[in-house]
Amino acid sequence: EAPRDLQIGSAVWGQRDLLGHDPQDPTAFQQILAAEFGSLTPENDMKWAEIHPEPDVYDFAGADALMAFAQAHGQEVRGHTLLWHSQNPGWVTEAAATWTCDEARDVLEDHVRTVVGRYAGDIYEWDVANELVQDEWDAGGVRLRTEANPFLAACSDDPVALIGDVFRWTHEEDPESVLFLNDYNAEGVNAKTDAYYALAQELLADGVPLHGFGAQGHLSLQYGFDESIQENFERFADLGLKVAVTEADVRMPLGEDGEPTAEQIALQAERYDKMLQACLEVAACTSFTVWGFDDGRSWVPDVFPEGYATIMTEAYEKKPAYDVLLESL
Ligand code: XIL
Repeated sequence: EAPRDLQIGSAVWGQRDLLGHDPQDPTAFQQILAAEFGSLTPENDMKWAEIHPEPDVYDFAGADALMAFAQAHGQEVRGHTLLWHSQNPGWVTEAAATWTCDEARDVLEDHVRTVVGRYAGDIYEWDVANELVQDEWDAGGVRLRTEANPFLAACSDDPVALIGDVFRWTHEEDPESVLFLNDYNAEGVNAKTDAYYALAQELLADGVPLHGFGAQGHLSLQYGFDESIQENFERFADLGLKVAVTEADVRMPLGEDGEPTAEQIALQAERYDKMLQACLEVAACTSFTVWGFDDGRSWVPDVFPEGYATIMTEAYEKKPAYDVLLESL
């Protein structure tokens, strides 16, 4: 059992992994999901493209299946996500070309109130805004992703005002939910998290109901590990915010046989452990979520020339990283 109120969670894609399965006859996947985790995050089901595929069409099937699964097993749910530059439906991208800021605002407000309102009271944390800030190596450097995000692009005169409004609408619809900013490469103290620190201060000074900062925790053994994660979490906690690790996985380049080396396996467990320890050390850390628990469902091989990123193999064999996370607590 996790100490204090720290939730250990997993992402799950309701549409793919829960819908169409008989709850009386759960799959091995579902048994592990129910037994091992106290919190679920919809991997895709609450993203715009899935939940709002046409202007007047909402498709709640995947998200509803996830909520029902969580309820049946006494699990909490982290909502993900309301404002993001990626996985927006075609109609948004097309309409955005001619949007005024008011039009973009109206579309966004209607969506936020509809989605948040539907699940109000049942979502303990929301990743309200996802990946708002560019990386140092992106064109233009560390700054808001204003052009890439159709809503922010339409309101480029004052994107921060729109970001604040999304938090306000979410809070009005679901006053109990803890509302997060969330991003990758946001674990340690770096130029990107400096920008988030400034953004968080600005939003809080404006009275925006911002309550949390989430570090996704998508790591790769190709890169070094930034040891300053605890220090980073502490500075956000000192602003009065909660913090969380929201999408942890630790991927690695694999040899020709597709297998990791013993050294990589040990190093993976160590990286998971370091993220977990930072969360355990900072009282404001509320949740530690893995972005899927089995390699068979991991998003990593689809996107990176890497793999072995989760805590269990495709056959649900426990890796050392599993022991770190689920047996050390
Ligand atoms: C990923 C999903 O895991 C994939 O299934 C999907 O095809 C693309 O998105 N950061 C995020 C997540 O905030 O929403 C992303 O999820 C992974 C990176």
